[in-house]
Amino acid sequence: MIYAVTTERTIGLVLFAILMVGWIAYVFVNIRQSKAEQGSDVELAPNRKVMPTDDEFEGPRLEQVQAWGVLFLAVIGLSLPIYWLLEPGRQDGALNGFEERAISRGETEFVEGFECANCHGANLAGGSTQTIIDIPRNGEVVKVQVNWAVPSLNDVFYRFDTDIDDPEDSTEVRSILNFGRAPVMPAWGLPGGGPANSQQIQDLVEYLWANQIPVEEAQQAWSDRFQTLRADPENSAKSNGELLYELHCARCHTPQWSAAGNQPQPTGVDVEISPGENGAGAYGRPLNASSLFEQFPDVADQVSFVEKGAVQDAAYGERGLGNYGMPGFGDILSESELRLVVNYVRTLTQTPGVTGEAGPETGEASE
Ligand code: HEC
Ligand code: HEC
Repeated sequence: MIYAVTTERTIGLVLFAILMVGWIAYVFVNIRQSKAEQGSDVELAPNRKVMPTDDEFEGPRLEQVQAWGVLFLAVIGLSLPIYWLLEPGRQDGALNGFEERAISRGETEFVEGFECANCHGANLAGGSTQTIIDIPRNGEVVKVQVNWAVPSLNDVFYRFDTDIDDPEDSTEVRSILNFGRAPVMPAWGLPGGGPANSQQIQDLVEYLWANQIPVEEAQQAWSDRFQTLRADPENSAKSNGELLYELHCARCHTPQWSAAGNQPQPTGVDVEISPGENGAGAYGRPLNASSLFEQFPDVADQVSFVEKGAVQDAAYGERGLGNYGMPGFGDILSESELRLVVNYVRTLTQTPGVTGEAGPETGEASE
């Protein structure tokens, strides 16, 4: 077995060596000084000497010994509580060091090991990546090279596992890392057939968790993105609910949303990718089917679902569906924005005449 060389080990070995040398020296000197035996040991035992009287023994000598006793007791009595007081700090320090090392390992994995930063951006603010997707063309499936939008991760814990104060609450992010996100992000964890073991997944989770921006900043960033969309004349015909859907939901619920636009091909001929119908379903379930009204007969239940998101392996809605992957939007969107986007989604149904509980779009999209 190989032991690591630590400072403690070195100090221990040096002390041991000093004690051994001292002990050997003591034995040696003792043997040298011992006197040869002479005569009867009753009369002339070498250790015989005149001892103090009883008075002396039970007086100053006893008090001296007792004083030493009290002194040592005081030392122990003081040092134990001090040790006890400092112990939590020492433990916290050990834990912090442990966490800091995990975060820094996570950073290395994020930037170099698994190159997450290539797609998600070095500052976790999102980016894009090139990938090949299948799209239907003239009744056939063809392969097209596209730039695919990649989500920000500096706010991922406000969407998934939304108890931002609890680093242990990371089941959903862990599942996303383990199993990837088809079609673009591969599985990273061993359970999904990826290269990262559970310790590396843990390091990545800790790194992401340590790099979340404050919630006000995240809200402001999304609000700015919304205002940019709102200010675009191309969007003037769209309601706030529709824009909120496109900003927050389309990447998962509208086919090919993240690749929409003009896509230059290696052949030199550009291909225009238009996303599928809003709510037709992609990674997230279809939202344009009347079954949505069976799932959430009451619009309030749908608002509450979109607010909290899916909880891993917990059933939701009337039909008791549920796996994971639907983020919660309660940290980022206001109550009225949640209602706007839900009401918009309830207008997507492909069944004419079925409007469910969807009311008119009321309320303003505040930040
Ligand atoms: C090839 C590009 C690419 C790489 C490399 C990559 N990702 Fe992703 N990741 C994506 C895309 C794209 C999505 C969104 C899914 C989609 O649009 O299909 C995503 C989604 C995610 C999500 C869910 C975020 C959300 O809000 O939906 C997390 C968490 C995540 N990635 C973490 C990581 C980590 C950690 C690594 C490195 C181990 C990594 N990703 C590497 C492209 C990538
Ligand atoms: C990161 C991808 C993702 C984003 C972004 C997303 N969803 Fe989802 N959504 C899902 C997944 C996955 C499910 C299925 C969850 C499950 O089965 O546990 C789902 C389910 C739903 C359902 C329930 C559908 C049903 O039939 O049960 C509704 C409603 C919904 N999403 C609305 C929204 C709205 C509104 C937004 C935007 C504010 C949104 N989603 C953003 C992935 C996403």
